[in-house]
Formats: sequence, C-alpha cells, structure tokens
Amino acid sequence: MKILFVCLGNICRSPTAQGVMEHLVKKENLHDKISVDSAGTAAWHHGNLADPRSTEHAAKRGYDLTPQRSRPVDPSDFHEFDLIFAMDKNNYNNLLELAPSVHKNKVKLFLKEHGNSKTHEVPDPYYKGEEGFEEVLDLLEVACENLLNKIR
Ligand code: 4NP
Repeated sequence: MKILFVCLGNICRSPTAQGVMEHLVKKENLHDKISVDSAGTAAWHHGNLADPRSTEHAAKRGYDLTPQRSRPVDPSDFHEFDLIFAMDKNNYNNLLELAPSVHKNKVKLFLKEHGNSKTHEVPDPYYKGEEGFEEVLDLLEVACENLLNKIR
C-alpha cells in the first residue's frame, strides 16, 4: 500500500501528514506493508526542508520531518500510489485535473474521508501563528489514526 499526501508547497501540511503517518506505521510494525510520501501542487519550494515551524511543532509530539525535502507532484505519482490524499479543496481540484481518468478515483480529500469533524480541509498554516501549526497536527493525528485503522 503506497500513500501520497499532497498540499500546496509541500513544506507544512503534507510533510506533517507524512511524518505522523510514518510514525504510526512504524509503531504498528507495518513499514514493510505501507509506505508514505508527500508532494506539493506547486514547485516553489522544490528541494527545501519542511518549514522550520512545522518541523519544530511536529518534533514536540515525537514526529521527525527532517529527512523530508519538498517536491512537486509528478505525473508518475498517479500510477505509483494507491491512495492520494489532498489537504484542501484547491489541492483536490488541482490533483483531479492532473490525474489520468483511470486514476482519478485514487484522489481523496483527506479529512472528508478520515477526519472526525465537519472540517474537510486542513487549513494552510503558512501565514498563521503557532496555533495554526498545532491545529494542523491535531487534525492530522486523528485522520492518520482513522486511516490506519481502516487499512487494517
Ligand atoms: P503547505 O503550506 O501547502 O502546507 O506546504 C504553504 C507553504 C508555502 C506557501 C503556501 C502554503 N507559499 O506561499 O510559499
């Protein structure tokens, strides 16, 4: 099972989703069965580390984002991955436009599928303060737990 998380810049939300999901997968000893990656619909930060604010807030909860580097979505991702989770509706619509017809069913709005609340989008924390980054973690921890339970 190969899972791809996608946001806009691939430096805040989707790296956080990847870090949280990888942590759970490792904890449950499923790393030989489930692999996780992330990408952005924009290439502005290609090759960059995750945003230091995301890295710092994630580290406080035990998630390591430091191995990650930003990359844009590649056309091959639609073949390569089994599930492609968008962080917000813009990401979702952009992915649907890029996806070949046969693979459009792999693209999902992450919180709509696996979140616990009526919130269907992970809000972009880039122009926000500390609470923005904590909110991203709160939403993603719940949805990643739900996703792993569903896969199992
Ligand atoms: P992300 O956040 O999509 O969660 O990685 C953003 C990162 C960078 C920018 C916007 C959102 N930016 O405008 O550079």
